[in-house]
Amino acid sequence: MTQPHSAQPQSVQPQSTDRIRIFDTTLRDGEQSPGVALNHSQKLEIAHQLAKMGVDVIEAGFPIASPGDLEGVSRIAREVRGPIIAGLARAGRADIEAAARAVEAAEKPRIHTFIATSPIHMAKKLNLEPDAVVERAVQAVTLARSFVDDVEFSAEDATRSDWAFLSRIFKATVEAGATTINIPDTVGYTTPQEMRELFAYLKGELPAHVILSSHCHDDLGMAVANSIAAAEGGARQIECTINGIGERAGNASLEEIVMAFHTRADHYGYQTGIRTRELYRASRLVSRLSGMPVQPNKAIVGDNAFAHESGIHQDGVIKARETYEIMNAELVGREAAVLVMGKHSGRAAFRKALTDLGYAEMPDDKVQHLFGRFKDLADRKGQIFADDLRALVDARSDVPQT
Ligand code: KIV
Ligand code: ZN
Repeated sequence: MTQPHSAQPQSVQPQSTDRIRIFDTTLRDGEQSPGVALNHSQKLEIAHQLAKMGVDVIEAGFPIASPGDLEGVSRIAREVRGPIIAGLARAGRADIEAAARAVEAAEKPRIHTFIATSPIHMAKKLNLEPDAVVERAVQAVTLARSFVDDVEFSAEDATRSDWAFLSRIFKATVEAGATTINIPDTVGYTTPQEMRELFAYLKGELPAHVILSSHCHDDLGMAVANSIAAAEGGARQIECTINGIGERAGNASLEEIVMAFHTRADHYGYQTGIRTRELYRASRLVSRLSGMPVQPNKAIVGDNAFAHESGIHQDGVIKARETYEIMNAELVGREAAVLVMGKHSGRAAFRKALTDLGYAEMPDDKVQHLFGRFKDLADRKGQIFADDLRALVDARSDVPQT
């Protein structure tokens, strides 16, 4: 859907036509949502949907976590074609060997290894000096490269790490063979401006062939904004999950990022390979299998995301959908936007609802009378459904006859 741009300031001209790779971690970080545990066939079903949707990378699990997780990743590696299949590993031999075994049957295998780099994590969690952290990271990447050509290295808690130290560890791991460098906002602490600047800084520090990646958590509700800011700073891979599920407040939401780039292509100019019409199906599938409901007002996939209730908005969309819709529901695989009938609805929507139910020929004075009764009912009942409208029409003994 195109939007008018005549009043657009210079600063919002398209900035890039670069391809952004979508790395889906629903099956790994998403599954780390409290209370979520997916079995193998559920994981496989989700992985097939992700492949159908066109994600570039599926992080299928954390193979060292349990024999079940290792088997789950192996099955996806054996059976899902198209995307890169990644297995997560801490920077240690046992983890990396498990990840290598799990992804070995993949058409395009990746090992994703990580170690924490923030002062608090290095001192309190790892109990390691920074030099030892760099050494471990290099050993891990070197070992991973002995199994696969595609190795991603992540600096856990990167956004609370020293930037010069990040540059140092990333240069060392790229030298050891890492092809993608991931900069996670592990605790959802950063801001869009900080993220943009951090990525721009690291882009300047690292060789051009390295793909920079973002991985944002949503503790302050900024995961999507931070991911987009990372792209503006130079990220060309974004890690995210369907419905934004994940540890604590979750991860950046895949559907929101993809649709922001799609809808505001005029502004960003980034391309993803996502077939947007598969987004809603993916959202429903993940919600059903994970048991995590989607909040009604969630952007793109929530029940209310394409529903209009107020009379002013309903009147607008009846005249032209673009008045209050910046994207079509069909574009994300949903039914056309709905007009929800309630006490805020106006005459135009009421008339349209009657027409849709087959009462197109009803004279104006009857519609006017029923509209008053509809408002009384809406005040009492809240939302009014098709059956309520039919009942109103059918019980019209007191409606003026013409
Ligand atoms: O949030 C995080 O830092 C992670 C890493 C393992 C990439 O999930
Ligand atoms: Zn994470």
